[in-house]
Amino acid sequence: MPHITYIESDGTTHRVEADAGRSLMQIAVEHAIPGILGDCGGACSCATCHAYVDTAWISRLPPRSESEAFMLEGVADLRENSRLCCQIRVQPDLDGMIVRLPAEQG
Ligand code: FES
Repeated sequence: MPHITYIESDGTTHRVEADAGRSLMQIAVEHAIPGILGDCGGACSCATCHAYVDTAWISRLPPRSESEAFMLEGVADLRENSRLCCQIRVQPDLDGMIVRLPAEQG
């Protein structure tokens, strides 16, 4: 089972087991990771699941869809590695991936 590490803006780290096929948002909510709310349930319409994927992992992900890119335009601190966690499905080859949470969602 792949492991994902979520790191809060204050450095608090959460390493969790993730079921393959679940989204990074679903996994974070299931493990009560602070800062990932997932208000829209994964419909790509709220951006409360914004996070920064570690640069070592970002190239392994499919690119942002048009709707994801549109929603990201509204976040407070958009970066090159900004993603919406509900749009990323965990696969076995993502074992060890690191995701950082924005300060304004903490
Ligand atoms: S949960 Fe709403 S955009 Fe990701």
